[in-house]
Amino acid sequence: MISAKMQDALNEQVNKEFFSAYMYLAMSAYCNTLGLPGFAHWMRMQYEEEIMHVTKMYDYIMDQGGEVNLMAIEQPEKEYGTPLAIFEKTLEHEQYVTNLIHRLMDLAVEERDYATQTFLQWYVTEQVEEEANVNDIVSPLRMVGEDKGGLMMIDQQLSGRLAPTPLTA
Ligand code: FEO
Repeated sequence: MISAKMQDALNEQVNKEFFSAYMYLAMSAYCNTLGLPGFAHWMRMQYEEEIMHVTKMYDYIMDQGGEVNLMAIEQPEKEYGTPLAIFEKTLEHEQYVTNLIHRLMDLAVEERDYATQTFLQWYVTEQVEEEANVNDIVSPLRMVGEDKGGLMMIDQQLSGRLAPTPLTA
């Protein structure tokens, strides 16, 4: 079982993960309007990844006999600027999420909640990967700048992103 405080904090994080999904779906739509289908695909896969993060946390709250409390999801912006600005915003957002996960871990440590610490470790590792993946896209985007040929090449690469591996029940 988990404490009411831990349960509330995890429910807050479920909401933040839902917002991440919502924002990446908005970014996907925006990339389509820019005529960048590979970027749009990458963001769509990122949306699916975030839904997986939500589901995993939802299941954990349930498994611990907790109460899931689904809250209103903040409305994401519609426009995100240049392709580079989109990924800079993505990096900034993932750094923000990393910080949220670390704060959750602080709470689990404070509460001597060993099960939740183990559970959250997956997210700590996942965030390292999330930030690295985005950094790997920000760097070439900085290099190509406004060059259309370069952007088309990156668009082609992003179109190859695979769907996230489904969770095992
Ligand atoms: Fe759920 Fe992208 O962190």
